[in-house]
Amino acid sequence: MLRHLGVHAPRLAFNFKSSLIHGGRGKTLTTRAFSSSAAVSPPSKAIVYEAHGEPDTVTKLVEVPAVEVKEKDVCVKMLAAPINPSDINRIQGVYPVRPEPPAVGGYEGVGEVHSVGSSVTSLSPGDWVIPSPPSFGTWQTYIVNDEKVWHKIEKGVPMEYAATITVNPLTALLMLEHCVTLNSGTGDAIVQNGATSMVGQCVIQIAKSRGIHNINIIRDRPGVDEVKERLKNLGADEVSTESELEVKNVKSLLGGIPEPVLGFNCVGGNAASLVLKFLRQGGTMVTYGGMSKKPVSVSTSSFIFKDISLRGFWLQKWLSTDKAEESRGMIDRLLSLVQEGKLKYKMDLAPFEDFNTALDKALGKLGSQPKQVIKF
Ligand SMILES: NC(=O)c1ccc[n+]([C@@H]2O[C@H](COP(=O)([O-])OP(=O)(O)OC[C@H]3O[C@@H](n4cnc5c(N)ncnc54)[C@H](OP(=O)(O)O)[C@@H]3O)[C@@H](O)[C@H]2O)c1
Repeated sequence: MLRHLGVHAPRLAFNFKSSLIHGGRGKTLTTRAFSSSAAVSPPSKAIVYEAHGEPDTVTKLVEVPAVEVKEKDVCVKMLAAPINPSDINRIQGVYPVRPEPPAVGGYEGVGEVHSVGSSVTSLSPGDWVIPSPPSFGTWQTYIVNDEKVWHKIEKGVPMEYAATITVNPLTALLMLEHCVTLNSGTGDAIVQNGATSMVGQCVIQIAKSRGIHNINIIRDRPGVDEVKERLKNLGADEVSTESELEVKNVKSLLGGIPEPVLGFNCVGGNAASLVLKFLRQGGTMVTYGGMSKKPVSVSTSSFIFKDISLRGFWLQKWLSTDKAEESRGMIDRLLSLVQEGKLKYKMDLAPFEDFNTALDKALGKLGSQPKQVIKF
C-alpha cells in the first residue's frame, strides 16, 4: 500500500539494537542498535512516536544508533523539515496513508549528502537533496535511503524553502494547472479559503503571475489588517474575513473581478459555503484540506441551478501515479521562482532543540502562527 502510493520509508530509524533513547517530554524509549563492519551513518536524533495520539503527548526525542550505508544508499544530514498539518494527522492516526508506529515524524525536508555507498554515481558529499517523492521520517538528523529517492537541488535556495517546496507549493501549482483550464487572456478568477496557509499564499502568487484574479477568504483572527496587507503584497486581489462576507449577495463585493470559475477549499464548514457562493454558474470547488474539521455542506440549489461541481485533490495520490519525474521538474520550477523572489511565504525557522515549542505552535496552541520549520 505504501509503495503503491509512492512512499519510501528510510531504513535508518528502526534498524535498532538495544540502546536507550532519551524522551523529549521526560520519557524514554528503548530501541535496538545496528552492528556492522560496513560503512555506517553517524548516530541520529529523531522525533519518534510509539503509538498514535496527540502529537504533543506521543512524540519523543530519541537517539538512534548508526546504520549501515549499503552500496546504493545515500546518507543525508538533514538541514530542515517542516511540521505540516498532514504530519500531525499521521501522528494522530487519522491520515489514510501513514507509517505504523513506532515511526519517525515528518514527510518532507532538505538535507546535505554526508556519505554515499560504493555504487552511487549521481550524488556526492556536500550536495543538497530533498526526498522526492516525499518520504516518511524526515524529522531526524541523519537519514539513510536509496540513491533514487533523493533529488539534487541547487544550493542557492534558502534551506527553509527547499525543505517545504514539495507538499504545499507543488499542491498549489498542480491545483491551478490540472483542475480546470484557467484562461489568463480573459482574466478568469479563482476563489479560495485558508488563504493564509502556505498553499494559499502560493496559490495567490502563482495565480497572479498568470493573470488569474484571486479572491481570498481568511478566518477572523487577531491582526486581520496586517494579514490582508501581507496577502495583497503577494498579489491578492481581494481578501475578506468570513464575518465580512456575511452579506446577502457576496458577488456584489466582486467589483470588476469576474465571477470565479474555480474555488479551493481547505477549511470546510462556513468557509467552504462562502467559496461556493462566489462560484459562477458551472464552477468547480476543489477540496484539499479540512482545517476546521467541519463538513462541506452544499445546497440543493447549488447543484440544480448553478450546476456546481465538487471534487478533491490529494498530492500523495497524484505522486503515486508514476509522476516522479514530472514532479521533480515542477519542484525545480518552483525553486527557481523562489530564487527569483517570485514565490515567498511566511515561515518560522525553529532550532531542533525547540521542537516542542514549534510543535505547540503548529498545533495552534499559541494562536495563528507561520509554518514551523525545524532546523537541525
Ligand atoms: N490534499 C493535499 O494533497 C494537500 C497538500 C498540501 C496541504 N494540504 C492541506 O492544505 C491545508 C493547508 O496546509 P498548509 O500546510 O498550507 O497550512 P499552514 O501553512 O500550516 O497553515 C494552516 C492554515 O490553516 C488555518 N487554520 C488553522 N486552524 C484552523 C481552523 N480551526 N479553522 C480554520 N482555519 C484554520 C490557518 O489559518 P490562520 O492563518 O488564520 O491561523 C492557516 O491558513 C491543510 O489542511 C493541509 O492538510 C492538502
